[in-house]
Amino acid sequence: MKAVIPAAGMGTRFLPATKVQPKEMLLVKDRPCIQYVVEEALAAGSDEVVLINSRDKKSIEQHFAPSPALERSLRDKGKAAYADAVAHAGSLPVSYVYQDAPLGLGHAIHCAAEKTGDEPFYILLGDVIVPGNDILPRMLEVHREHGGASVIAVMPVPDDQVSRFGIIGGVDLGDGVWKVERLVEKPKLEDAPSNLSIFGRYLLTPRVMELLAQAKPSVGGEIQLTDSMDALLQEQEMYAVVVEPGQGLDTGTIETWLEANIVLALQDPQLGPRIKDFLAGL
Ligand code: UTP
Repeated sequence: MKAVIPAAGMGTRFLPATKVQPKEMLLVKDRPCIQYVVEEALAAGSDEVVLINSRDKKSIEQHFAPSPALERSLRDKGKAAYADAVAHAGSLPVSYVYQDAPLGLGHAIHCAAEKTGDEPFYILLGDVIVPGNDILPRMLEVHREHGGASVIAVMPVPDDQVSRFGIIGGVDLGDGVWKVERLVEKPKLEDAPSNLSIFGRYLLTPRVMELLAQAKPSVGGEIQLTDSMDALLQEQEMYAVVVEPGQGLDTGTIETWLEANIVLALQDPQLGPRIKDFLAGL
């Protein structure tokens, strides 16, 4: 299965940090966010990782290109661990397609249509990290159990945040799996069919690409993926896998990016005790 990683957005919420540096290249603990996402796609056994990039965000491609001179100079200085880290980033196999203007997530995904062809494919948002790499394998299991249907990840959100997200409605089948019957974008709490928000990982059938080809701009003037998923739901079954709040970290806003750094630092065996003491001492 191919994996598509959209990373061509404007990162408006991080300006001015993202004036030159892409949001997906911001450091999270010890590497750029996008590196975690590529590593997760590869850990899931994807045959190809397709990054949807903007032509202005060259540093993403530079990060995944080999840097033999830098690596050699680090080795010459006895800095083998850094040389290994540089070699690792430059060895991750990534291919690129371009979104020429940031017309929305749905538009970005459609830019990879020729790559994904007539096979189901994963989508991993480029600003969402799954530290345990455990969501895509579960989604693949559910996809297979239900005859190749589309599967999305959903995460419970507190009541006061329901109106900020795409929320699903449907039937709880048990074992953390729902059959999706409705997708509602940013509902009022009283209209929300559940508190399960769509969360950054999707396994979709190729039909969604045909629907995206016909999609019109909607919320915010952008071509939204949720609209085409809603159209897909009118034709095909869709399932949702419920993930725990700690299983995935959204780094897409300043608050959640700060939180993701703290969570990953606390989980790190080397950094964790020091950061914990530091926070306790504040
Ligand atoms: P976001 O909405 O979080 O990213 O999209 P954004 O548009 O860069 O953020 P703001 O609103 O301007 O602050 C989720 C993912 O989809 C990509 C983004 O790069 C991000 O990784 N995306 C979004 C695209 O590739 N193209 C788009 O047109 C929009």
